[in-house]
Amino acid sequence: MRAGDYGQCLAALVQGEPTATDIARVLSPKNEEEHGALVVLADRVRKNNVGDGVHLRALIEFSNHCRAACQYCGLRAENSDLARYRMPPDEIIEAATIAAELGYRTVVLQSGEDAWYTAETIAQIVSEIKSRLDVAVTLCVGERPERDYALWREAGADRYLLRIETSAPELYATLHPGMSFDNRVACLHTLRRLGYQLGSGVLIGLPGQSLETLARDLLFLRDLETDMVGMGPFIPHDATPLAGSETGRVELTIRMMAACRLLLPRAHIVATTALGTLAPLGREWGLQAGGNVAMPNVTPQRHRALYEIYPSKICINEEGSHCRGCIEARINSIGRHMATDYGHALSAEREPQPAGT
Ligand code: 5AD
Ligand code: FES
Repeated sequence: MRAGDYGQCLAALVQGEPTATDIARVLSPKNEEEHGALVVLADRVRKNNVGDGVHLRALIEFSNHCRAACQYCGLRAENSDLARYRMPPDEIIEAATIAAELGYRTVVLQSGEDAWYTAETIAQIVSEIKSRLDVAVTLCVGERPERDYALWREAGADRYLLRIETSAPELYATLHPGMSFDNRVACLHTLRRLGYQLGSGVLIGLPGQSLETLARDLLFLRDLETDMVGMGPFIPHDATPLAGSETGRVELTIRMMAACRLLLPRAHIVATTALGTLAPLGREWGLQAGGNVAMPNVTPQRHRALYEIYPSKICINEEGSHCRGCIEARINSIGRHMATDYGHALSAEREPQPAGT
């Protein structure tokens, strides 16, 4: 390839119609300078489109029961080594109350795919939280029928996170026994139609992935026009079929976030806990490469270690108040500030601002 080629591929991402080849090239810089050019550009596009505020989403991991068998995930049903817990509705509402008291403006209710919580139970929890607390509510509880999603939306849920995990249908099928790629895509469209602010994302570094599939993942997220994106490195878990696989790379994750910022200038992009698990400053790097969201944990301390999606997760010995101070200090350390609004999806009222200074 010619010199200057990297710059042309970057320009194609910013200007709108990049091919998967352009994106794959952006994801594989030849040297530090190219990597640096991507990160600096993404940081500028982030600043011009979503500003310097970092939105905090307080994460409540309310149940680690899961009926699914995702090959990469420590919560998979077949992992009988894991002690399982479920927080009753009162405890979930209590955790949300603590989150609001800590100043968070969004709570994310996340669990494995756990049918113990009926649609009505979750609707009740959402409506209690929305009536008592001044917070946005995000749900992240997996695939459910349209009726459930509709009920929760009526109960006041604002947002939904459902990662596509990989947009390559064959790879998706291998990694998710018993699940259907088409159904997952259908769920995303249903959620969008019901008026949720929609979040999705992928794992980075899965066995079987390539730069080409990752490039297509980004095009998938762009075509879906996701409001929020969460993409973290794959971290192999010993109690899964992918034990012993290679760990996802921090630098590639950073580049995926940066490329995503160029393709979706107004999205809320998370610097994930998985990134912070692989590198002590991983979240800060992510926030400096296009990210504008972090998801501090507010799960009651006694449950945290059991929500072991991947090993060595950070924050499992901390209380919510500790993470609150920690995350704010990290944000301030890179010259940014905690946003104080809800951090809703940014509508298309303003044209995306590309790379000006
Ligand atoms: N490493 C990193 N992230 C993982 N997730 C599941 N298993 C792993 C793992 N081993 C991610 C999935 C899921 C999110 C809640 O956690 O992408 O959507
Ligand atoms: Fe939990 Fe830093 S965010 S200890």
